[in-house]
Amino acid sequence: AETDATGLRTPIVAVLGHVDHGKTTLLDTVRGSAVQEGEAGAITQHIGATAVPLDTIGEMAGSLVDPDDFDLPGLLFIDTPGHHSFSTLRSRGGALADIAVLVVDVNDGFQPQTLEALDILKRTETPFVVAANKVDTVPGWNPQGHVPIQQSIDAQSDRAEGDLNDRLYGIIGEMSDNGFSSDMYWRVQDFRANIGVVPVSAKTGEGIPDLLTVLMGLSQRYLKEDMSVDVAGPGAGTVLEVKEERGFGTTIDIVLYDGTISADDTVVVGGKNEPIVTEVRALLQPRPLAEIRTEKQFEKVDSVAAATGIKVAAPDLDDAMAGAPVRVVRDRPVEEVIEAVEAE
Ligand code: GTP
Ligand code: NA
Ligand code: MG
Repeated sequence: AETDATGLRTPIVAVLGHVDHGKTTLLDTVRGSAVQEGEAGAITQHIGATAVPLDTIGEMAGSLVDPDDFDLPGLLFIDTPGHHSFSTLRSRGGALADIAVLVVDVNDGFQPQTLEALDILKRTETPFVVAANKVDTVPGWNPQGHVPIQQSIDAQSDRAEGDLNDRLYGIIGEMSDNGFSSDMYWRVQDFRANIGVVPVSAKTGEGIPDLLTVLMGLSQRYLKEDMSVDVAGPGAGTVLEVKEERGFGTTIDIVLYDGTISADDTVVVGGKNEPIVTEVRALLQPRPLAEIRTEKQFEKVDSVAAATGIKVAAPDLDDAMAGAPVRVVRDRPVEEVIEAVEAE
């Protein structure tokens, strides 16, 4: 389970931004995976979910983070598509988010789906940071590998550093045009009043330690109260995908954003015609750092707590729908839970 002894819920971090600005590549760098390379047409077409444990964040952030300073269990990253035709999936991802990363290609600047993502973040009042990605494409850039961004900037020519700054100030200007005050993250004191801009390269790893540090700081500082919930209560989640799984028939991949789901629970799932009431047959958990979308080696577990991505095997899921709510019944009257699912 993705909870620690204090029962804090894992924060959900949505990754949003225009097509090809590097969202999946960024997550690949954090995971040490190559999900992006396997995507048809290099386009993300589904919402993904990846649990990143606190230990991994600590290792990746290096000297910038001391895991002992944090008591959140880690972060659950939600990957979203940037292609214009997937606006429903972007909204869904945004609705799940406790915090977000808006990925902006430093060469491309703000594009239509960057603005769409900003609107979602505004509407849902989600705190976020900007990852100013692809800094390695600045002419004359001298890649430094997986290091804090300041260390990399110190190793660049004055010209490359100047070029990068021009691009970063361009992004800060576009943020301002859209009603958001922002600055380089190292100058930001209050991350809700002033959005932090973190220069990164998803490809070379530069700035990734900074991004993880800022996200952990942001969640620890501003979300701790929201995360102090009854993680043992009846689970609530959203269906990401309805999939055939060998040996299990039709299954649903869900993001559980609240409470707990157990292998003997009755659940109500939003269906094409009416809510489906069914009994969980198996809970299949992706390994830590695995993208649920591409995972092949699920582990059977008895119970998981929010927030996490989990595959649920149960009878009668053929009419389940992506985006539909999932609710654990537990000791509540089933009619009440059906009504709640119908009302969503
Ligand atoms: P969608 O999910 O389809 O919206 O795209 P995305 O935002 O997930 O972008 P993706 O990770 O698919 O990357 C798009 C392209 O940009 C790929 O060819 C990546 O290799 C490249 N790319 C991503 N990040 C970087 C970076 O930091 N530097 C460089 N040079 N290329 C990058
Ligand atoms: Na892409
Ligand atoms: Mg992608």
